[in-house]
Amino acid sequence: MERLQKVMAHAGVASRRKSESMILEGRVSVNGKKVTELGYKVGGNDSVEVDGIPIYQEQPVYFVFYKPRGVISAVSDDKDRKVVTDYFPRVSERIFPVGRLDYDTSGLLIMTNDGEFANILTHPKHEIEKTYVAKVKGTPRPEDLRAFKRGVVIDGRKTAPAKYKILSTDRIKGTSIIELIIHEGRNHQVKKMFEAVGLPVMKLKREKVGSLNLLGLVSGQYRELSKKEVSQLLVEAKEK
Ligand code: URA
Repeated sequence: MERLQKVMAHAGVASRRKSESMILEGRVSVNGKKVTELGYKVGGNDSVEVDGIPIYQEQPVYFVFYKPRGVISAVSDDKDRKVVTDYFPRVSERIFPVGRLDYDTSGLLIMTNDGEFANILTHPKHEIEKTYVAKVKGTPRPEDLRAFKRGVVIDGRKTAPAKYKILSTDRIKGTSIIELIIHEGRNHQVKKMFEAVGLPVMKLKREKVGSLNLLGLVSGQYRELSKKEVSQLLVEAKEK
């Protein structure tokens, strides 16, 4: 469910502010009844009319996308760099990324036009588990990473306990591949967590969001999520 003015703005009726004025002026009805309340919420099955004309409400769509490195997690960029929506030329719905991955991070990004779904998945109260694999400079022993279990301080605040696993170590090159599972979504969190234990990140990839993975996709590809996968993600987010 979304606020009426947001649904109107999303459908291209007018800006959110102008849509609010239209609601207050009594020009909007939902399922045949005039609504003049700004907080009123509507869902995909409600029929919304403005001045007696139905507005077009997009059906919700959900994709799992394998974001390549060197792409911005946004729908547009003022410097004209590549953005994630450039990979969806045949999708006409107005999709956006759920959360973001850094420009130089690759991996799993969910794309949707469903704002409520995106809010549930990214809300700090019930942030879903995210699995990252990092190549770092350094060859730590498992006990050197124990701080991740208690949480490390980044930007003056402790992170929630995280799980980790050293997947491999290259003693000649002095690098390691480490899996880190977190459920928060702070800015550059994974890079900062590794930095906090003295292991600069050289490469970062998100492998999973909840139980959803990248299986069958190569960098730059996407596929639509099934209804079951969408509801599974919501269950996993709400379990937190
Ligand atoms: N943490 C980071 O540091 N970067 C990302 O892109 C995602 C999580």
